[in-house]
Amino acid sequence: MKISPSVLSADFTKLTQELQALEKGGADYIHVDVMDGRFVPNITIGPFIVEAIKRATAVPLDVHLMIEEPERYIDDFAKAGSSIITVHVEATRHLHKVVQAIKGHGLKAGVTLNPGTPVVMLEPIMDDADLILVMSVNPGFSGQGFIPGSLKKIAEVRRMIEATGRAIELQVDGGIKTSNIKEVAAAGADVFVSGSGVFSTPDYGKTIAELKKQAQSGR
Ligand code: DX5
Ligand code: ZN
Repeated sequence: MKISPSVLSADFTKLTQELQALEKGGADYIHVDVMDGRFVPNITIGPFIVEAIKRATAVPLDVHLMIEEPERYIDDFAKAGSSIITVHVEATRHLHKVVQAIKGHGLKAGVTLNPGTPVVMLEPIMDDADLILVMSVNPGFSGQGFIPGSLKKIAEVRRMIEATGRAIELQVDGGIKTSNIKEVAAAGADVFVSGSGVFSTPDYGKTIAELKKQAQSGR
């Protein structure tokens, strides 16, 4: 059970302290939400900031690209220090090629789906992906509510992963909190992104520990 706090909810005026608190608090990954104002309405972080985050923490960076044609920027985000790069199936016409490009940098390749996209889109890439991310909100903003129908989708992806016999991580992103992580884990997820669920609490370490405990109890 891994927790990947999303820095989108952090206080960017004190990013170093925020990252140190996450690292000390037991974060397994740091989730970095990259948005281009095209694939999603919001604009957030580019490779320059990812590189700064990399210098401020030893925790592996889990970089979620919500950008059109992510193939244009794989080299930049790899050089910036990503450990995982996740791309949307809706954002590229060349999913297999993008995944190979990410793996070519020696990184873990993640593939993700918007809430309105069926899991069948993942089938051709199950032999190559290292991580599947099920979006449980429509990407673009933190602080949205978990879409209940995501649970069924998570269970379906879990079955697809089992069928491959490969150790693919199953990540869920959007609206995850200590109050609902148990059912998300029970559906089959093992990596949990949480933005507001961590950063709206006073003690990140305590919240991360509680998230892990609740997730474990859902297994
Ligand atoms: C949504 C982002 C999420 C978001 C999560 O577009 O991909 O990672 O920051 O934030 P919460 O946990 O607040 O929904
Ligand atoms: Zn994300």
